[in-house]
Formats: sequence, structure tokens, C-alpha cells
Amino acid sequence: MDKLALSGGEPVRETPWPEWPFYQTDEEARAVVDALRSDHLCSAHGGGAIAQFEADFAEWCGAVGAVTVNSGSSSLQVALAAVGVGPGDEVIVPCYTYYSSATSVLVQGAIPVFADIDRETANLDPVSFESLITDRTKAVMPVHANGIPVDMDAVMAIADAHGIQVVEDCSHAHGAVYKGQMVGTLGQAGAFSIQHKKILSVGEGGVVVSRDPEVVARARRFVNLGGGSSTGDLGPNLRMGELHGALALVRMQWVDEQNDQRRENARMLAQAVAELPGLQTVPEALPDGVNPTYYNFILDYKREEIGVDRERFVEAVQAEGVPLRVNGYRPLNTMPVFANQEAWPYKLSENQPILEGRTLYGEGVCPVTEAFLSEGNLELKIHPPCGEQEMTDAAGAMRKVLTQVGEL
Ligand SMILES: Cc1ncc(COP(=O)(O)O)c(C=O)c1O
Repeated sequence: MDKLALSGGEPVRETPWPEWPFYQTDEEARAVVDALRSDHLCSAHGGGAIAQFEADFAEWCGAVGAVTVNSGSSSLQVALAAVGVGPGDEVIVPCYTYYSSATSVLVQGAIPVFADIDRETANLDPVSFESLITDRTKAVMPVHANGIPVDMDAVMAIADAHGIQVVEDCSHAHGAVYKGQMVGTLGQAGAFSIQHKKILSVGEGGVVVSRDPEVVARARRFVNLGGGSSTGDLGPNLRMGELHGALALVRMQWVDEQNDQRRENARMLAQAVAELPGLQTVPEALPDGVNPTYYNFILDYKREEIGVDRERFVEAVQAEGVPLRVNGYRPLNTMPVFANQEAWPYKLSENQPILEGRTLYGEGVCPVTEAFLSEGNLELKIHPPCGEQEMTDAAGAMRKVLTQVGEL
């Protein structure tokens, strides 16, 4: 049997793991240079790339309109604003997500309340969501984490029954499908990051979509200073620039095909992982009609079955040339920006009735998320140009380490 690379043996893989994103064709460069040469770098002063991208993105999603913004975090704030979230409101957010899913609630002056996840999917647990509803709950934010669509039938049924607005965080899920519908169009608004690392990557940027023309119109007013100097409304300028729009327009064409490759990679890897002890693909089985993007390929690590610490296992797999890692999320309920309650919305008088006598944050509030993050959550990037060779190497490296786990 080959010695582990960690003990001086030959690694399974010597070729560097492919990077995502990557420069693909000169079409990208031409589009950005053309936008530059047009002398219109801002959508408010001519230019056409943003307008075209918004139209194409909305059509691709099945939305009535799309509004570009300067980041994914801003897209969440704008979506919340567009569905009417403000001071005095509670918004239910899963505890397992990037922290700006929840800070976007704070920057709208409202209070995030953390719901736990279902460990099988690492997504919002509808039972936890329902248990947290109060008469101040204005919205819920299902996050399609790692590109796996949330159980939206359950979330929408609960939300509709209580008159709660649904803002989907689709930052990992561009092109993911839930029962025939693209994510982002299932709730009242959808928000996407198109930041550097994302499936649609332009550096910094975001998009808000909706099937409701009023929501689109409110989002557009909000990102344009609240509607302009003649309206008396207040809003920031959160517009995206034309150069980013030009790049987005080109790269958007490739997303579906690239997602197919991610799905094929996930299928190959999940099949191999099913034969390995102590590692479980998240989710292990997909409900019918659910088509993820696999922004991250996630594994639940079962320490009791494998017998070594997760970090040591990861170190050994990395030494074999496969960049498996512990996913970087921390439970939001323990993060100081929420737990310390010092940010300005916590001081607003409208929010005091939400906070009084309640333990919203701190350890133990979301036990499933906390356990998953501290024991389970391993991540591998399987974006194209990763393909069959990478999936074979990933499975080979994990198998090799597992068969010699006593050496660790
Ligand atoms: C789930 C999720 N939501 C929101 C964001 C925020 O996006 P941005 O970095 O573009 O502000 C991210 C970015 O990492 C994310 O992963």
C-alpha cells in the first residue's frame, strides 16, 4: 500500500487543483474594453451593459426584473428594503451562512433572529423557522447554502400562513432549480452575490430579482439614492458600474454549462464517497426536482467512525494534493456583531420590545449548526475546469487516508 504523503510517500496528485474563477476567453476582455471605450462607465449616465445584463438575468431567472448593486451584501439589504423591512422588525436567518446575510438585516435597522439548520442539507430547518415566528417577524431569509436549494415548499407554506416576506439569499445558487423554478423567484425577492469567488464572478457586485414589479421598482429606487433628489425619499447609492456589467453579461452565458459540469463532478464524487466510511455527502439524497449548483461540495465528517480529528484528516488529504478543507463558517449566534448587541439597531427604541427578556444569541441557541460546524462541515471546490480526473483524485486521496487512518 502506498505510504501517506504526510509520512513521506508519493501524493495522489501533484498537479495544482484548478482555480476558480479563471479568465476564459478574450471575449471577456473585449467586452470590458468596449464598455471603457464607450465613455459611459455609469448606468446613470448612458452605457448599455448594465441594462442589458439586468434584462438577460431577469429572463434567465424567470423574474419580471433585476436590479444590479455593488455587492451581494447590498443586494440582501436592498431586497429586505424592497419587501418593507425596517426598524421594529425581526428577520429569521439561518445560523449557517456568511455573516452578511444577517448583517444586512442590521443595516436595514431590523433584528436578525437565528434559526437552526437541518443537518442533512445544512439549510434552514422549517421547524426551527416556524418555532421562532412572533408578531414582529417581517421576513425570513432562506439561504441556498452551498448551492443546495432550501425546502422551499415548507418555507413558503409557513411564511404564507403567517404573512411573512421571503427573501432568498442565492449567493451560492445562480441557476439552481427548485421544482421547475429558478431559485430567487420562489419568494418575494431573491438576492445574488456576483463577487469574485461566486458562480457568476465579476469582482464585486450583486443582483436583486423579483416576480413582483412593485418589489423591483422599490429595489431600483432604493439603490438610486431612494429615488432621486425630487422625491424626498432616502437611500444610498449602491449602483454597480458599467465595466462590471459588461463582464457579467459575457460570463452569464456560460453559467448553465458550468453548472452542468459542477453537477457531473458532484455526481461522480458522491458516488465514490458513498463507498467510504465516515464521510457523508450533504445532502446524501436530493428530493425530486431539485437541481443544485454545488458551489461547495460538502461532506459531513463522522469522527466516531473515522477515529481521528477532522483537522488531522484534512491535513492528510491536503498532503495528497487535494484541497479539502474545513468550511470557514462560524455559528453566527456567537459572533460579536450580534452577540454583543452594540451595533446601532440594537439601540433603537423600535427594537427594544424585540430584545427584552429574550436570548437571541450566544452558545446553544442553534445546537445543530454549532455541532455541524465544529465536527462535520468539510468543503471541496469542484468548479470547472475540475472534471473526472480531479474527482478521481479527490476520492482516491480520501480513500487512501481512510485506509491508513491508524498512521495519523
Ligand atoms: C451566502 C452569502 N450571502 C451573502 C454574501 C455576500 O456577498 P458579497 O461578498 O458580494 O457582499 C456571500 C458572500 O460570500 C455569501 O456567501
